[in-house]
Amino acid sequence: MIAAPSLAFLAQWTGRHSALDPAGPQAERIGDLWWLMFWISTGVFLAVLTALLAAILRRRREEEDAPGPIAPEARHRLTRVVAGAVGVTVVLLFVLLFASVGTGRALGSLSSRQALTIRLTGQQWWWSVEYQDPVPGRMVTTANEIHIPTGRPILVQLESRDVIHSFWVPNLHGKRDLIPGHKGEVWIQADRPGVYRGQCAEFCGHQHALMGLLVVAEPPEAFAAWLEAQRRPAAPPVTPAQKRGQKLVETLPCALCHTIQGTAASGKTGPDLTHLASRRTLAAGTLPNTPGHLAGWIVDPQSIKPGNHMPANTLQSEDLQALLAYLGSLK
Ligand code: CUA
Repeated sequence: MIAAPSLAFLAQWTGRHSALDPAGPQAERIGDLWWLMFWISTGVFLAVLTALLAAILRRRREEEDAPGPIAPEARHRLTRVVAGAVGVTVVLLFVLLFASVGTGRALGSLSSRQALTIRLTGQQWWWSVEYQDPVPGRMVTTANEIHIPTGRPILVQLESRDVIHSFWVPNLHGKRDLIPGHKGEVWIQADRPGVYRGQCAEFCGHQHALMGLLVVAEPPEAFAAWLEAQRRPAAPPVTPAQKRGQKLVETLPCALCHTIQGTAASGKTGPDLTHLASRRTLAAGTLPNTPGHLAGWIVDPQSIKPGNHMPANTLQSEDLQALLAYLGSLK
């Protein structure tokens, strides 16, 4: 029996997966705009209801006192009230317009000083993450988990390999589409360390709902250590099982789709596995990264995420154990 994605597993990050719990300057601006709109709309709603109630009560009283047409003074007062209400409405609409335009401008104006550039490529149904560097040998490729240093602006370059996806990490920013054949970009910044869940926000096929990602914001020193570790090729196998596992990866179809730096596996269709064991999730935020879930995923990925591009693998028990031992060593 293969474990389906567990809700408890997803909940550990979705609990804080909220645009109203901002962790960076842009999400904060968006949150402020939302609260301004919320309170103005609430005020208008209450004012309209109060006016309606007052009108109903007064009309009833007037009809009881002196039924008949409205007196000329009352008509004048009514005209003044309606004109005043129209004036207030226009002013409020302009307040919302300026606040909205101002927020839009502020969102695009993160300082690009000391920016870190990440290329994010969406595909059915996972995210490829490439840390750019002027020296090609220092670029880092990973998948479905973006690490960023806190307090530093990040330029995320967006591309898609197949259909339209949308990058959305509610705690950091609004949505931005990844469009095939078009290079988009978005700036993000996290000021508070934490793990923020992201989600593809544009329907992109069968497994759109299971196209998640994590953004791990950590202090600059921790981030630098992480990046340095990711730059290294895969850890060489030590135990006999790990050695056998590496040989299996290189000879089985795995190598056609996945890359493990420092080995013969250099496929580009699936996620880079060089440091697979350092990641928190499997299959783009679908499963916790544990040996049991990894075994289920290797043997029968289609029952976990139907329609994804990973084929089922029939393996002898010892081969599967060797594969797990090796993949589990790729810290
Ligand atoms: Cu990718 Cu929805």
